[in-house]
Amino acid sequence: MTGANGLPLFADVPRPAAEAVAEGVTLLAGFVPAADVLPLVARVADAAPFRRMTTPGGRRMSVAITNCGSVGWVTDRDGYRYDRRDPESGRPWPAMPDRLRALAVDAAARAGFDGFAPDACLINRYEPGARLGLHRDEDERDFAQPIVSFSLGLPAVFLLAGPKGGRSRQVPLSHGDAIVFGGPARLWRHGVKPIADGQHPLTGRCRINLTFRRAL
Ligand code: SIN
Ligand code: FE2
Repeated sequence: MTGANGLPLFADVPRPAAEAVAEGVTLLAGFVPAADVLPLVARVADAAPFRRMTTPGGRRMSVAITNCGSVGWVTDRDGYRYDRRDPESGRPWPAMPDRLRALAVDAAARAGFDGFAPDACLINRYEPGARLGLHRDEDERDFAQPIVSFSLGLPAVFLLAGPKGGRSRQVPLSHGDAIVFGGPARLWRHGVKPIADGQHPLTGRCRINLTFRRAL
């Protein structure tokens, strides 16, 4: 885009570089404005506290979760699904803050996915040692829409298994990074290695991850 003088608009504003990790997988290093996002996460967690849910197999997740949006991802003995209500309180999940939605839509567009319309944001809290096993995000209805993921606090190693499975790639994720996966990579298996112990000035002894999805 150019301005009236023919020069690129906002040429002096640093923009995070978009790095193609694989076809359909884009890393936007330093994209997430933590000072804006963390207070919004705290507000969601006040209304719908982080909790460790049980998998269908009966195991307690090491990651604590909450949600905002018109639906939230939940798991219990009956399976994985999206639910309009927080099962702990019986109330609807807190609404997705406009600022979070706008950031997710912007991240998706920068990765080449225009028109992303998230209705769910799963918020994960990892304490040291917490991990997420390899899985597919497949409880959503529309796989044409990508998954947008924001990382804050302690660093993580994101595992990304390609279409055929096999050995996963390891993608280091730092505070403020966003990763977008969609298109050919939308149903790739992914996970998070156990979080190393540490202390982050903004989050303390934890990592916070937000994943925006189009669930319904
Ligand atoms: C997820 O797959 O739901 C979360 C991934 C992450 O924490 O980076
Ligand atoms: Fe996932």
